[in-house]
Amino acid sequence: MKSPNAPVEVAATAQATPSELPREARAAALQVLQQADPARKVVQTRALFAGVGAADIDTHVVFDEPASLPGRPTLPRLVPPKAVPTRSPFTLEGRAALLHAITHIEFNAINLALDAVWRFPGMPPAYYTDWLRVAAEEALHFTLMREHLQSLGFDYGAFDSHDGLWLMVQRTAHDVTARMALVPRTLEARGLDASPPIQAKLRQAGDLRAVDILDVILRDEVGHVAIGNHWYRWLCARDGCDPVTLYPALAQTYDAPRPRPPFNIEARLAAGFTLAELDLLA
Ligand SMILES: [Fe+2]
Ligand SMILES: [Fe+2]
Repeated sequence: MKSPNAPVEVAATAQATPSELPREARAAALQVLQQADPARKVVQTRALFAGVGAADIDTHVVFDEPASLPGRPTLPRLVPPKAVPTRSPFTLEGRAALLHAITHIEFNAINLALDAVWRFPGMPPAYYTDWLRVAAEEALHFTLMREHLQSLGFDYGAFDSHDGLWLMVQRTAHDVTARMALVPRTLEARGLDASPPIQAKLRQAGDLRAVDILDVILRDEVGHVAIGNHWYRWLCARDGCDPVTLYPALAQTYDAPRPRPPFNIEARLAAGFTLAELDLLA
């Protein structure tokens, strides 16, 4: 078992790779998205980002959507959100359930980022490399959380989970502006708000290793939300829309979950939200 104060490191599983992916990066992202085995998905995702160059990205190609996206393991069992029990973090099993929920979010987040790469043609090359970077960072988050869960005697798949994140991917499958508005700058931004209270609970429960891992995740997630903000604004500028007034319209059309206070104002400002946008939250 690791010491709770061990430094957070890049997982050993995320190294060398078999070159079994298409050379073109968006085709490769679609193939990795279909990978069901979490450990293989992690290795392939990190290899894809590490090896990508601008010449590998075909920004125009349009792919047919395969029948069953995303690839995922048979466990965890997916249940309606209300059927996922909340447990006290002050028992081992309850803490494992909380950590499992975060592990599941990180697994979904790999899929969300890969989906942003293959699905939407016609964006600048930097859009695709940004989302491949996000996918690689989510793969690290998933691995850190899974290894910590394993150190407690549990594994990914041990608890029922829900599929809310992927549902928003499906709803915004035909609109890249809505995707940027509602996945990174709504769902991932909610993660910025949720982190400090969860870290406080875990600190109280004595799980300093989990607190350290969540520090890494929070730092990276500020970057993911910033990427979402950047491309959302880029799309609004391209299409002549006002990003501040378009957002509530998109949130309503696609039935996005409402941000819930308390807000992590510092992280949201660092991620590029304007004061006007933060005022509208309140
Ligand atoms: Fe993450
Ligand atoms: Fe993220």
